[in-house]
Amino acid sequence: MSKKLKDKVAVVTGASKGIGASIAKHLASEGAAVAVNYATSKEGADRVVSEIVKNGGKAIAIQADMSKQSDIKRLFSETLKAFAKLDILINNAGVYDFAPLEEVTNEHFHKMFDLNVLGLLLATQEAAKHFGNSGGSVVNISSVASTSALPNISVYSATKAAVDALTRSLAKELGPRKIRINSINPGMVETEGLHSKGIAESDFRKHSESQTPLGRIGQPDDISPAVVFLASEDSAWITGETLFISGGLR
Ligand SMILES: NC(=O)c1ccc[n+]([C@@H]2O[C@H](COP(=O)([O-])OP(=O)(O)OC[C@H]3O[C@@H](n4cnc5c(N)ncnc54)[C@H](OP(=O)(O)O)[C@@H]3O)[C@@H](O)[C@H]2O)c1
Repeated sequence: MSKKLKDKVAVVTGASKGIGASIAKHLASEGAAVAVNYATSKEGADRVVSEIVKNGGKAIAIQADMSKQSDIKRLFSETLKAFAKLDILINNAGVYDFAPLEEVTNEHFHKMFDLNVLGLLLATQEAAKHFGNSGGSVVNISSVASTSALPNISVYSATKAAVDALTRSLAKELGPRKIRINSINPGMVETEGLHSKGIAESDFRKHSESQTPLGRIGQPDDISPAVVFLASEDSAWITGETLFISGGLR
C-alpha cells in the first residue's frame, strides 16, 4: 500500500521531545521528509532524526526559537533549501506554566503568548507563503485547556483558546488557497515537559485520570495518528476543526 505522505515535506516545531518527536516519526513513517525543529535540545532532535533515517525515512534537525520572527523565517528557508518544497506545518512548540492570578507577570504572559500564539501565527504566515499550488495542511497542537476552565492556569488556557480561534479564522481565510488548518486538543499527555514540571507524578495527574472516562492520561503516540490523518489527503474536506484527544475528558 502506498504511503499516505509520500513526496510530502513537513515542518514539525518543537520536535526534539514529547508530542512533537512522536509526530515527526509518524509523519516520516508515512513517507514525509521532515524538518525536526528544536530550540535548545540538539541531542534530542538528532536522536529523532537518526531514528527516522534508520527506518528509511528523510529528516533533518533545524534549530530555531519559534518565539523569534527571524528564527522562524530561517527555519522555513533552511527547510526549502534541504527539501525544495513545503506541504505540511505542525505547530507543536509550546510552553505551559502555572500561576495563580496574583503571580501573573508580564514575563509569564509573554513567555507563553510569544511562543504559543505569536510564534504559531508567524510560522503559519511563513508556511502559507511557501505552500505550492496544491495548497497545504497546518495542524495546530492546542489543548483541552482551551475550554476546560481549570484554576491557576489562566494564561496558558488563554493561549490555547487563541489557538482555537486562529484555527477557525485562518481556515476560512486560507481555504480558497486549498490550505487547510485544524487543531488537535490533547488532554494530559506524559512527556518530558510533564515530568520536568513534576506534573507526571502529581495529584493533578491523579485527579485528571479520575475524571477521564478512559481512565488514564495519554502518551505521545495517542496523538500522532490523528496528526497524520489531518496532514494527509484522507482529511481533504476537513478544515477549521478542533479534535479533542483526551480519553473523553472535557
Ligand atoms: N503534555 C501535555 O500534557 C499537553 C497537553 C495538551 C497540549 N500540549 C501541547 O503540546 C505541545 C507539546 O507539549 P509537550 O508536553 O510534548 O512538550 P515538552 O515535552 O515540554 O517539549 C516541548 C518541545 O517544544 C520545544 N520548544 C520549547 N520552546 C521552544 C521554542 N521557543 N522554540 C522552538 N521549540 C521550542 C522543545 O524544544 P527544546 O527541548 O529544544 O527546547 C521541545 O521539543 C505544546 O504546545 C503543549 O502546549 C501538551
